[in-house]
Amino acid sequence: FALVLCVSTSEDFDWTRNDRTSFYYGTFPTGFSWGAGSSAYQTEGAWNIDGKGMSIWDAFAHKKGKILYNDTGDASCEGYYKFKDDINLMKDMKLNHYRFSISWPRLLPSGLKSEHINENGIKYYDDLINMLLDNKITPIVTLYHWDLPQVLQDKYGGWQNVSMVNYFNDFANLCFERFGNRVKYWITFNNPWSIAVEGYETGEHAPGMRLRGTGAYRAAHHIIKAHAKVWHTYDMQWRSKQKGLVGVSLTADWGEPVDISNQRDIEAAERYIQFYMGWFAAPVFHGDYPQVMKDYVGRKSGQQGLGASRLPVFSPQEKSYIKGTCDFLGLGHFTTRYVTQKNYPSGVGDSYFADRDLAELVDPQWPDPGSEWLYSVPWGFRRLLNFVKTQYGNPMIYVTENGVSEKMLCTDLCDDWRMQYYKDYINEMLKAMKDGVNVKGYTAWSLLDNFEWDEGYSERFGLFYVDFRNKNKPRYPKASVQYYKRIISSNGFPN
Ligand code: NOJ
Repeated sequence: FALVLCVSTSEDFDWTRNDRTSFYYGTFPTGFSWGAGSSAYQTEGAWNIDGKGMSIWDAFAHKKGKILYNDTGDASCEGYYKFKDDINLMKDMKLNHYRFSISWPRLLPSGLKSEHINENGIKYYDDLINMLLDNKITPIVTLYHWDLPQVLQDKYGGWQNVSMVNYFNDFANLCFERFGNRVKYWITFNNPWSIAVEGYETGEHAPGMRLRGTGAYRAAHHIIKAHAKVWHTYDMQWRSKQKGLVGVSLTADWGEPVDISNQRDIEAAERYIQFYMGWFAAPVFHGDYPQVMKDYVGRKSGQQGLGASRLPVFSPQEKSYIKGTCDFLGLGHFTTRYVTQKNYPSGVGDSYFADRDLAELVDPQWPDPGSEWLYSVPWGFRRLLNFVKTQYGNPMIYVTENGVSEKMLCTDLCDDWRMQYYKDYINEMLKAMKDGVNVKGYTAWSLLDNFEWDEGYSERFGLFYVDFRNKNKPRYPKASVQYYKRIISSNGFPN
């Protein structure tokens, strides 16, 4: 199997290190930022109110059969109306920051800055930002948490079309112009992996396209260009006045080799990570796709199967333009997989998943509190953080999402498994910081139970329980609120 010869594994990361140590007592550095997160479509509701345009998620969720139980985000947590109450919850928890996203079609109903700016939308985010700041809560703002204006999908095919780069840049520029005097932390994209793979390959997410084997790579290519353009716009036009930072938030679950004494398992685990986080992190830190992706699906891979030549190529100018466009890395981390090589008989596969040529396994011993995919494997978090440090030159990291769900019917506010999850994962983050990883903040996902995409309301990630059957969407603290508060007030785990 010729490709194996081209595969290089991460040189600095020590795959054999024992990262499964016992609980560590200690505290975080002074100034470490504690927060909670949300996103516009998942919490705001008010989908067609005050001049908001339609997003691809509005359209997708309105189609029968796309979302479990045909749930929609039409009302969700009614965050649009209840943000003041929510800030009071944050204040009571003494959160240092709140991560939320701005809905592009709420500001630009037709998607285009040149056409119409919805001042009602601007006012909503102005009020939200101002009240956060009045309460000494730093806003960390995501510009794209998946809700593309539907018109841009209809007219241009969304992220399949390179014209999104300029449209997104115009939208971002508007946000810098209107909010940048107060917002100092910007995240261009949330979890571009999901946008590309679930939006354009599997079709489980909006816009629901199934462009097997090409769609995801193409979408990702345009997203990376759009990210870089927005970073440069900020850098050239706003940074000196506004003094903020622009990063991207990547989902990064950990892949652990099934057998760490087997080089081919290590290579498979490395592929799992490089096709996931590295796909976006390598361009923004190093200027190009990970070598292993180029080996497997790039032009040079010759006749190895349908996967060959599907990865788009950055020109030398684009490479230098994209390299270094990340002031901080946002990491969304939830779980871990064991990984082993798969050996597809025909070599490279014909879809993103087959391209990676690996099999994912889980340990039946791992606790599985709610979601099918989310197992609690805290040590994977420390390994991931160390991997980021060695691969990308120890960048500044904000953990932008970490948390655990339970199933819908669970109305139990005594979420002891969530407390355990937070305790274990936050402790592993502390160990990683002792290892020298540069983590500046941590964001619990999520402040509230909310619309969990294709799972609808069936999965609850919130620190606060939301009664979605009640029109007023009341919030009730789960026990983990008290627990998280304790971690925050003692800044970790003092002995
Ligand atoms: C990552 C996504 O960014 C977020 O929107 C989602 O709710 C969580 N994962 C949990 O699945």
